[in-house]
Amino acid sequence: QTEPNLSVTVVGASGDLAKKKIFPALFALFYEDCLPQNFIVFGYARTEMTDEELRETISRTLTCRIDKRENCGDKMEEFLARCFYHTGQYNSEENFAELDSRLKQKEDGKTSNRLFYLSIPPDIFADVVRCASGKAFSKTGWTRVIVEKPFGRDSESSAELTRSLKQYLVEDQIFRIDHYLGKELVENLSVLRFSNVVFEPLWSRNYIRNVQFIFSEDFGTEGRGGYFDNYGIIRDIMQNHLLQILALFAMETPVSLDAEDIRNEKVKVLRPMRPLRLEDVVIGQYKGGQSKGGKSYLGYTEDPTVPNNSLTPTFAAAALFIDNARWDGVPFLMKAGKALNTRRAEIRVQFRPVPGNLYKKYFGMDMDKATNELVLRVQPDEAIYLKINSKIPGLGMKLDQSDLNLFYRTRYLKEIPDAYERLLLDAIQGERRLFIRSDELDAAWSIFTPLLNELETKKIAPELYPYGSRGPVGAYYLAAKYNVRWGDIA
Ligand code: BG6
Repeated sequence: QTEPNLSVTVVGASGDLAKKKIFPALFALFYEDCLPQNFIVFGYARTEMTDEELRETISRTLTCRIDKRENCGDKMEEFLARCFYHTGQYNSEENFAELDSRLKQKEDGKTSNRLFYLSIPPDIFADVVRCASGKAFSKTGWTRVIVEKPFGRDSESSAELTRSLKQYLVEDQIFRIDHYLGKELVENLSVLRFSNVVFEPLWSRNYIRNVQFIFSEDFGTEGRGGYFDNYGIIRDIMQNHLLQILALFAMETPVSLDAEDIRNEKVKVLRPMRPLRLEDVVIGQYKGGQSKGGKSYLGYTEDPTVPNNSLTPTFAAAALFIDNARWDGVPFLMKAGKALNTRRAEIRVQFRPVPGNLYKKYFGMDMDKATNELVLRVQPDEAIYLKINSKIPGLGMKLDQSDLNLFYRTRYLKEIPDAYERLLLDAIQGERRLFIRSDELDAAWSIFTPLLNELETKKIAPELYPYGSRGPVGAYYLAAKYNVRWGDIA
């Protein structure tokens, strides 16, 4: 039995995501010998381009970052020789039929699996799937389709999108990607929790007083204003990346590591979440300003691709609650923003104080700060650390907080693969654990849709914050309302 052929067709191949992430991830997998012998890549987009031109474009973004093996250059040549390009419209059956003949030529009559990566806006997913399903799906092996967020703008449009995809695909063929699920630390979250006896017993309202999911970027939407203005930070980051991490964090123990068991638990924890209320949300938008070094930055609405009067939030903070036995009353805080003072993504678990702490009088600090905190730094500089109280060495008794630290860079000398590498490999191998099922998506939208409608119908103005700052002060008040301090600025 010979190994089936594999083709990956990147629809939207001339776009940014394809160039920056998808082709480099495919190359990294090829370089690591993770792909079948007979593997080819097709770029598909409307831009007129030859195979050679595609190769030239993508060769600029391929790197030999995994290690500096001498044969990297040769591998790159080998990879590029397997890359082809087909110019086509997204709604043309004829163009997809042409793609099919080119694929067939290379498949040489053997069993062939076909993976399509839709790196295009969601309003054209349905056209592509309709045309490709009739003309370019595999007749001899499997066909799978990876779709990139945004999966709609709200519950209704997301359900509509699912309906239209399901006219041509069954759920098992749809791989809804959320690249945060492919990040090393996010994968490790479940390992940490479920295979260390010191964590799982504490994982509930009995010991945890709040959990924080923080995403910040130190750059604005430069160049992406057109896309971003249509969605805003809540749809771009919170409803997917942060909520997905929250679901993994808060779910009950799955029956097994099987994809369906894990996704069942994620749905079960998303359903009892209260829909977000306006009073539990703060929105912000960055304005221009000057850095200390004198560099000046454009405000969000000064970006030529953004309307001057846009109310789209580039920052949001929210307090969410899960009405179930494990988490009743525990605030799950989220904060996401662009053009802030730093680039970082992290999960912070703040534990309750020790009841009747014997050492109270020896703490030189506010007892409220003398609580344990577990931090999973997703990026940059992946790390897991636990803040503990401990005695300062010496005569007498003085206490302070120190970190038990797992710092990836010094502990593991290996480079960490990009999230897209892991997820592409999973899709090729049919592993669905890290992809989002349609009922998860529905549950996720139910939490955010009422809020998004209200923000938009009432035209709620975002609080302005300077480019490069820590974001709107409203976020502090929101946390304080629930007796919480943001761990990243404590
Ligand atoms: C994308 C968002 O999903 O994630 C972008 O659309 C954001 O706005 C990006 O910049 C962040 O991803 P990463 O992996 O660079 O943190």
